[in-house]
Amino acid sequence: MLLLIASSGSVLANSFGPLDGLTGAPAENNCTQCHTGNELNASGGSLMLTIPETYEPNAVYTIIVNLSHTGQKRWGFEMTALDADGTRAGSFAADDAGNTQVSEADTDSKQYIKQTSNGTAQGTEDTHNWEFQWTAPDADIGPITFYAAGNAANGDFGTAGDYIYTTQSESTPAIPVEPGINFIGDVEQTTTDAETGVTYTFQLTNEGNTTDTFTLEVSESPAAIEAGLMGSVSMEMVTLEAGATQEITFKVVGNATTPPGVYDIDVIAISGIDEHIRPNLLTTTTIEMPPPPPTPWDVNDDGTVNIQDLVLVAGQLGESGEDLKGDVNADGTVNIQDLVIVASHLGEDTDSQ
Ligand code: HEC
Repeated sequence: MLLLIASSGSVLANSFGPLDGLTGAPAENNCTQCHTGNELNASGGSLMLTIPETYEPNAVYTIIVNLSHTGQKRWGFEMTALDADGTRAGSFAADDAGNTQVSEADTDSKQYIKQTSNGTAQGTEDTHNWEFQWTAPDADIGPITFYAAGNAANGDFGTAGDYIYTTQSESTPAIPVEPGINFIGDVEQTTTDAETGVTYTFQLTNEGNTTDTFTLEVSESPAAIEAGLMGSVSMEMVTLEAGATQEITFKVVGNATTPPGVYDIDVIAISGIDEHIRPNLLTTTTIEMPPPPPTPWDVNDDGTVNIQDLVLVAGQLGESGEDLKGDVNADGTVNIQDLVIVASHLGEDTDSQ
């Protein structure tokens, strides 16, 4: 008796579940084979599939089939998922409420999910949804296409006056996320002016395959902290699309009491996707002793201002032009004023200045 009911069901293939092979997939027919009278995919209605844009092996996804046509009041569909060769891809599971059912002759052949008699939602007007689960195959099998046909019916328990729609949608294997950073730039600078400091320019490139937000961390050596040197980056967070590059400036500034020396400050770029990916640039800032102020009154540059310097200036008196040692005030002429300046520094030790 059970066998009889089961076999009569698949033979009749009606409102309680259409026959297999009617999804409009390659080499398949669709419901217009029997539900005639209206053009396939006529305006005024639609069949829409909500499927995962990308799939991960073995992941379970909720699929929604939406069928609409204003004025219609009974609903049916059939759907299959196939790889590029037309082989079954993944597994459908009928919903718990009994609105859908799965048919599969054996695991190697195609699998279909379709409405049940209850799932025709007799009397529901204009639009209807079916919701059920699909488990992705256990490996990346390339793009998977979901093929579906839907019948927006008029509820007359016949094949006339119904609108048939077909559609297809593709899901591609999810590409594993691979973060990557390229962090480069010159890392050595020298200055005699610690208060103005130095500025480094770095390039941060997202070498991963997806958008990533990088955090930039500054880590000063104890010596740098002791010397009052501070490092700051132009941006502490950088969001970059795959392949994009951002220029970052890094400023190192000391203060009036920063002693001359060589100071290390590390700048670290950390991937927001994987914090273990954290390349660094170790900067070395050399603060040099500023050059002593010039002492042009030590005309012969022997370390003391004395009579010899006065003699040199006197010997050039009246001369004008560039690079004259005796032109102490650099006004272009050697004259009495230059003598006065040297005289005013007489006896000074210029080495110690
Ligand atoms: C082999 C012929 C045949 C094919 C192909 C067919 N049907 Fe039907 N269908 C019938 C018949 C006959 C009826 C009327 C009897 C009934 O309601 O069970 C029917 C009725 C229906 C109804 C109820 C219509 C109403 O107005 O009450 C729905 C819904 C339905 N089919 C869905 C489908 C879907 C979806 C497909 C395609 C995936 C399909 N059918 C393909 C023969 C077919």
